[in-house]
Amino acid sequence: MKPLALLASAGIVIAAPAMAQETKPPQTSGVTAQSPDGSIVLTVTTDNDSRPMWSLTRKGKLLIAPSKLGFILTDGLNMTRGFAIESSDTAKGDDTWEQPWGERRFVKDRYNQVTVRFKQGKTYGTRLMNVTFRLFDNGVGFRYEIPEQPGLKTMKIADETTEFDIVPKGTAWWIPGGEWNRYEQVYQKTPIDAVSTAHTPITMKLEDGTHLSFHEAALVDYAGYWFKRASGQTFRTTLSPSSRGPRVVRDLPFATPWRTVRIADDAEGLVDNDLELNLNEPNKLGDVSWVKPGRYIGIWWGMIRNDWTWAEGPKHGATTERTKQYIDYAAKHKFRGVLVEGWNKGWNGDWFGHGDEFSFTQATPDFDIEAVTKYAAKKGVKLIGHHETGGNIANYEANMDAGFALYQKLGVDTVKTGYVADHGGVIANTDYPGGPVGPVRMEWHDGQRQVEHHLAVVEDAAKHHIAIDAHEPVKDTGLRRTYPNWVSREGARGMEYNAWGKFANGPDHEPTLVYTRMLSGPMDFTPGVLSLEGANGPLASTLAKQLGLYLAIYSPIQMAADFIEQLDKYPREMNFIESVPTDWAESHLIAGEVGDYAIFARKDRNSPRWFVGGVNDATARTVTLKFDFLDAGKSYKASVWKDGEGATYETEARHNIAYDTRTVKKGDTMDVWLAPGGGTAIRLEPR
Ligand code: NOJ
Ligand code: CA
Repeated sequence: MKPLALLASAGIVIAAPAMAQETKPPQTSGVTAQSPDGSIVLTVTTDNDSRPMWSLTRKGKLLIAPSKLGFILTDGLNMTRGFAIESSDTAKGDDTWEQPWGERRFVKDRYNQVTVRFKQGKTYGTRLMNVTFRLFDNGVGFRYEIPEQPGLKTMKIADETTEFDIVPKGTAWWIPGGEWNRYEQVYQKTPIDAVSTAHTPITMKLEDGTHLSFHEAALVDYAGYWFKRASGQTFRTTLSPSSRGPRVVRDLPFATPWRTVRIADDAEGLVDNDLELNLNEPNKLGDVSWVKPGRYIGIWWGMIRNDWTWAEGPKHGATTERTKQYIDYAAKHKFRGVLVEGWNKGWNGDWFGHGDEFSFTQATPDFDIEAVTKYAAKKGVKLIGHHETGGNIANYEANMDAGFALYQKLGVDTVKTGYVADHGGVIANTDYPGGPVGPVRMEWHDGQRQVEHHLAVVEDAAKHHIAIDAHEPVKDTGLRRTYPNWVSREGARGMEYNAWGKFANGPDHEPTLVYTRMLSGPMDFTPGVLSLEGANGPLASTLAKQLGLYLAIYSPIQMAADFIEQLDKYPREMNFIESVPTDWAESHLIAGEVGDYAIFARKDRNSPRWFVGGVNDATARTVTLKFDFLDAGKSYKASVWKDGEGATYETEARHNIAYDTRTVKKGDTMDVWLAPGGGTAIRLEPR
């Protein structure tokens, strides 16, 4: 590694071969660059077959061995071989920007950047391909930028062949990519070389303790990629398919989404990491003061449990009367919103697979939408709207604007959308958004067509000052920075699975989500089932864990999912839920390991209060919490909700909870016992 050491503080230079990798062909000359603190060093070269390659070292150790870059096209010659480096240039950034809402108010953005220009010789084609790498101290992002060039107007991409050849051995936490249930799967923990094809983010812990997460940023007008194992610990991108044949079709010039690798010494460095947000474009919507974080309840758990129905009839959930009851409860217990599902026409048949029947403007006869929204306004509560599409985006694109217009007229400023259909079962108009409903094609939840759809929805909703919470979405790639009305989404197994089976999500699901799915952005997990009862058995959770979820699983809109009659039985827990913010000035993981447990400290955006809490897996443990994040010179009243003696998710003792109040100040420590399937929640108020 000597040549690299010479680069020391030089930032970015064009250099001779940087590393010898026995198993790979020797390198020709290349470009190197390093992160601002010098810990991460990138080398870009071409190999003996003139394939573009990239590699990374961290702290002097090879992390990503030379890995290919390129594309397979459906027409013309491929963009995988025959390249030489023509030139490169560098840039730097050092900035702090402000989020309108989020886990933290200010985000630091410091990087070194290099753009490497590749050109093909005649044998394989004559394409130009630029790759821009941005190196941060806690990760790397790179994207292809295909410039205007003679003889190539439109690129029809069969697949992208970006490789990641991970050198140190380790463990991976992942869900399969491209399977029927989209992202709603139980996480697997395997050796890295036992991963098949995974969705991103995929998380890894290497033998030397280094933590990695592979993902992407700014997924716009392109297909999402799956992380496919080629051999050993070598992975490559494979793009989500399209009915058009090529997985991506783009006119030149264009840039792909950023391929990202978070790199950290520990779990905390992985989580407190804004890599993907930094790689997204700044806010395009201007003043977004109409996007309001907040807590909500809903006419929802009853349908998920099958006690009520979305369809009209004697068990219909969304009646005027019940909605008014929920509005009353929301007003009394400081919830901003009431979600109402099944309010509209289209649910009466087998709505799964019949998305063409959904209306977004016509309410059922027993739901007086005008009266209900008027009543809500009087009580200072907002209705949260619902647009289930059944995956039929042809129907939705033709009618969504009318749906948003109606909601806007009635004062609804947040809408939950839904795309319940098997992966690959999205029904799309052949024309792109805005076109007439014509012949349809089947598409994937993360293909280029659906990526474009989601953005069309978010942009149209923005025109009506409406925020979007998408269920069965495409994965989050940090677009909330550019479109701050894209407030939350599902995109993993949420609370709903606990309604359907005993311990359905398992006790380690949420402590795994924190380090996997949650690295991509907010999740509408819908915590707060205080009864701990699904329709077919209990949750793998103690009562304290339901409170800890409000700190562990970040979302600017946060539900208390249980029936209001159940919530009413837990006044001491509701005291916590009624006070927990959904918008933060700061957030830090203060204790945790991937898949085991996760405790956060978060500071309220609108008051000097701090909140601490999180979730545990099936293994009981005592965690020592260090209050060194508190403001110096102040003493705080700590109200503690924690697992009571003998608590465990496995028995009725799951309801055992203990309360305690004490005074703490910066530098103090507190031991908290976490039960199997347990959690804790602490509110810290300056005295
Ligand atoms: C699945 C969503 O995850 C759930 O929250 C919603 O109630 C149903 N689809 C119906 O839209
Ligand atoms: Ca779902």
